[in-house]
Amino acid sequence: MQPEFIIVHQQVATHVAHIQLNRPNALNALNLQLMTELKTALQTLDADDQVRAIIISGNEKAFAAGADITQMAGKSAIDMYNTDQFSTWDAIKKTKKPIIAAVSGFALGGGCELAMLCDMIVASETARFGQPEIKLGVMPGAGGTQRLTRAVGKALAMEMVLTGRFITAAEALQAGLVNRITPVELYLEEAIKLAKEIAGMSPLATKMAKEAVLKAFDSSLEEGLHFERKNFYLLFASDDQKEGMQAFIEKRAPRFTGK
Ligand code: HXC
Repeated sequence: MQPEFIIVHQQVATHVAHIQLNRPNALNALNLQLMTELKTALQTLDADDQVRAIIISGNEKAFAAGADITQMAGKSAIDMYNTDQFSTWDAIKKTKKPIIAAVSGFALGGGCELAMLCDMIVASETARFGQPEIKLGVMPGAGGTQRLTRAVGKALAMEMVLTGRFITAAEALQAGLVNRITPVELYLEEAIKLAKEIAGMSPLATKMAKEAVLKAFDSSLEEGLHFERKNFYLLFASDDQKEGMQAFIEKRAPRFTGK
């Protein structure tokens, strides 16, 4: 079935896929259907050998203005528990290929959390990041208190979570939340450029390197180093390691196959 709230673009030649959130009338508010469509698309792209890097974007006005408030407003705690909306988020978190969020306009609440669930963020100068849940009488629920704090530190995270203040792209860059900012007309192009660069690397090494970097968030240094070393050794079982090192010695560009 065709998705209703996302558009998937695939550039076979560059190994880059792009998922566009497409609920513009609601500033891409993340309703349950949109999140399920996003999860399914990511699982399909993750399993497709032609894809090596993935971009998630919204539109110029909004990456996503949060979870759909109209869908949540009347729910009880038990409804929320039974709906188990975070199972889609947990599935998205398992994507092995690198995901770049291309953010313009609002990235609020669940929208900010979705951007932070991605591996890198390219933002337009008009991007605004915020966790305004406190103004709705709730708090972040999809990782906002954890990933934001790890990204920007306690002082700014506490301020954003407790006041709901939006930060600008420039503040986000300074705080380490985003990788780079561009004029609004260039943010998607910049994200594609970054995705293409990553897609030119060995897909196996890319996946294992992503996995090892993420390990830094939920393990001790010792455990993380151990995990890194195992993945490092494992890559010596790949054709890409032989090809990459041989290409360096022969002073030519490597041809990575993902094997
Ligand atoms: C449902 C939303 C929405 C949302 C915007 N809309 N955000 N609908 N859920 N999160 C809808 C509006 O109702 C409106 O629909 C249309 O999008 C345009 O929005 P406006 O408010 O008219 O636009 P503007 O005046 O430019 O204000 C933009 C805004 C504001 C500042 C972003 O829309 C806003 O504050 N949105 C809510 C942001 C928020 O609180 N996010 C956190 C949600 S809780 P109509 O039909 O009237 O045109 C959350 C919890 C996550 O994310 C938990 C884990 C998933």
